[in-house]
Amino acid sequence: MSTPQSLPITMESKNDTRINKICQDHTHLIETLPKGNGWMVEHLYNYNGVWLNSYILKNFLLLNEYFKSQPSDIFLASFMKSGTTWLKALMFSTLNRDQYTFSNHHLLKNSPQSTFPYLDSECYPVTDFTNVRQPRLFHTHYPHRLLESFTVSCKIVYVCRDPKDVLISLWHFACKIRSKDLNPITLDEAFELFSQGVTDYGPFWDHVLSYWRASFGSPDMILFLKYEELKKQPVMELRKLAAFMGKPFTVDEEEKGVVQKIVDLCSFDNLSGLEVNKSGVDILGKLVEVEKKDFFRKGEIGDWKNYLDEKMAECIDRITEEKLRDSGLILGEFESIGTSRVD
Ligand code: A3P
Repeated sequence: MSTPQSLPITMESKNDTRINKICQDHTHLIETLPKGNGWMVEHLYNYNGVWLNSYILKNFLLLNEYFKSQPSDIFLASFMKSGTTWLKALMFSTLNRDQYTFSNHHLLKNSPQSTFPYLDSECYPVTDFTNVRQPRLFHTHYPHRLLESFTVSCKIVYVCRDPKDVLISLWHFACKIRSKDLNPITLDEAFELFSQGVTDYGPFWDHVLSYWRASFGSPDMILFLKYEELKKQPVMELRKLAAFMGKPFTVDEEEKGVVQKIVDLCSFDNLSGLEVNKSGVDILGKLVEVEKKDFFRKGEIGDWKNYLDEKMAECIDRITEEKLRDSGLILGEFESIGTSRVD
């Protein structure tokens, strides 16, 4: 049985001089960039129109220098809190379905985060992924413009979600992992920042549109999925995902119910109920520690209705409509007016 892909080798300090130079450039760059309030850390920096924290920006510079993509690589790209954990589980168990039985599956004993690396925070100090089994799977939150600056011809699975649910999910997550040295972030503050686009990897709308537009130019290379559709018709969406990754389900597998079994294995209820996801921490990259249970909250469509009042929901819908106008993309269910929180 082969192991998952999250065990890259850290290159020892042979590239120290070059790394030091990049770190110095990064320090100077940070001093010149526009600064905004952060959700988890004190500040975000606007790098070429994208809000990033200092650490993720440094990794971006390192990835540009060191990361060598391979044509067989498959990236999972997403805005934060759009269903990444779910997609990680689905992609890993679909691609590796020959390797595990459902009664003794990797995901029964290991968290979805363990399946493949979160590239944005993996590269510091520089990490070597060359010997990882192919196709290599990576997860990133970088918008398409940044991702394409250090990758060539890789397949991308993108998952998006209703921005109102993203906002609420992100706010809860930020409350959990925000630096204890900072004042807690209120929902009103989070709402203001989100609306202004000031979130890690934001603005949200530019992020989604960057992948949406790129998927038009190369539909064979970018699969654009929606959290809400995955919730409503998981079997159909999983068939699409498997075919896109070059491993369509066979007639035999269909008859044996393999598609449904993967859907069940990766469902919110199943994963969130597993002991392995209830305690302990996931270490993303070298520095970021997140309690495993914090990747699972409610896993529902429309939980925003319990938090946003009518004005807030209308404001997000208005921005969404303006930004996405003429793009052909529709996000969420667009049934917000009149169904929001009443204080
Ligand atoms: P909520 O906070 O709305 O519950 P990400 O994985 O991108 O960080 O997104 C986290 C969101 O996805 C959280 O949403 C989380 O509960 C939800 N989630 C996690 N695993 C899921 C699963 N297997 N199915 C559906 N939603 C899931």
